[in-house]
Amino acid sequence: MASKIRSVYVCTECGYESAKWAGKCPGCGQWNTMQEEARDAAPQKAAPAAVRPMSRPMQIGEIDMAEEARYHTGLSELDRVLGGGIVKGSLILVSGEPGIGKSTILLQICDYLGQSLRILYVSGEESARQLKLRAARLGVGSANLFVLTETDVQLVVEQMRQTKPDLVMIDSIQTMSLTDLSSSPGSVTQVRECTNAVMRAAKQLEIPAILVGHVNKDGAIAGPKVLEHIVDAVLYFEGDRQMSYRILRAVKNRYGSTNEIGVFDMGDRGLRQVENPSQAMLEGRPKNVSGTCVTCVMEGSRPLLAEIQGLATASGFGNPRRMATGFDYNRMALLLAVLEKRAGYYFSNLDAYLNVIGGLRLDEPAVDLAVAAALVSSLKDVPLRDDAIVFGEVGLTGELRSVSHAEARVSEAARLGFARCVLPAHCLRQITDKPDIELCGVRTVREAMDALTE
Ligand code: TYD
Ligand code: MG
Repeated sequence: MASKIRSVYVCTECGYESAKWAGKCPGCGQWNTMQEEARDAAPQKAAPAAVRPMSRPMQIGEIDMAEEARYHTGLSELDRVLGGGIVKGSLILVSGEPGIGKSTILLQICDYLGQSLRILYVSGEESARQLKLRAARLGVGSANLFVLTETDVQLVVEQMRQTKPDLVMIDSIQTMSLTDLSSSPGSVTQVRECTNAVMRAAKQLEIPAILVGHVNKDGAIAGPKVLEHIVDAVLYFEGDRQMSYRILRAVKNRYGSTNEIGVFDMGDRGLRQVENPSQAMLEGRPKNVSGTCVTCVMEGSRPLLAEIQGLATASGFGNPRRMATGFDYNRMALLLAVLEKRAGYYFSNLDAYLNVIGGLRLDEPAVDLAVAAALVSSLKDVPLRDDAIVFGEVGLTGELRSVSHAEARVSEAARLGFARCVLPAHCLRQITDKPDIELCGVRTVREAMDALTE
């Protein structure tokens, strides 16, 4: 007789299931992420269709929109990312690497939210005492904040039913478990089923819930990727743990745009909003030295200035080293090749390093020209003008291609007091209002270097 319990192998990154173990997940291609999980083989019997209550199709006009109530969190950067606040009955996943500040931001917003809402904070990671200490440090002492240290999700749901809080926070979903399931907490099945349980309760009781989910590069803990379908919004906290800046990004949002980011600064009293991120990113910028360049990237619909530093030095080895932090390594190699072949800047026997300041990660093609300029400036040891910013995409023939949102980038540069903006000549057409900054349209990297140094 076949055993009732069978085991399956589930990818901790993408949730792919397979009867056999594999070193590489056939679903997402990650290595060493397939983990064994016990699974009840007997399918759950659903009641016959005739017995189940039937839902009725509704005309779209009939559906009551009422007011889409949103709770403001007291942090405008967070509200912006959420699309205007927390929607009633929504399920929000806040994910990020351990130690990035997920628990901190949740506890911090409790103070403001606690003025009007009753909050249930479920912690499966920290003891009540630890939480209290942290709350004291953050200056959170709302009488409406209730702390529950529990890891059994059914008991959490029961608490939700009984106490009917206005908002639930679960820190973290990986520590929660359903006792009916045989797999261990943090496994894909547990994480998925726990989220489903919370979701059902949240939707039924119309209580918004915020879940914390850890991600781990080596996939040791079930990645929140498997949850992305279930929840309404996924916020991703990123940034270097060593750096104080943290960027909160919406990866998915059923109630708003995913184009917005929030910028925070981690201090000794928790996270502080950075209202003028461009200025913060440029703080302490060295003047009159070679190898540094300022560019403007678009984070969603928001322009953000960033400093890029390049260093080209004689190589001690036969094989020159290339290193890029905050920028795609392959893209840098490509730009170096273009600079050599098309613009006559020779890097072949030099080590080249690139660094984006502030722990930012820049993936936009518009950054190309600034990367090239920073590297060439270091190569020639010629400082670029302090009061100039540059952006543009570099093509393989060394030509400069236009990029989107030129006007927004230019006005951000003007707002921060830059005097000259070097941009692809094709972009000039996009700029209709005469900005308070000198525009230099250029066609090649060489022209751009001239405009940046003269
Ligand atoms: P935490 O919110 O515990 O991270 P997560 O829940 O994402 O794992 O944040 C932890 C880090 O933040 C920790 O390294 C200490 C730092 N921190 C501060 O620098 N200042 C503070 O006021 C607090 C509360 C934490
Ligand atoms: Mg935490």
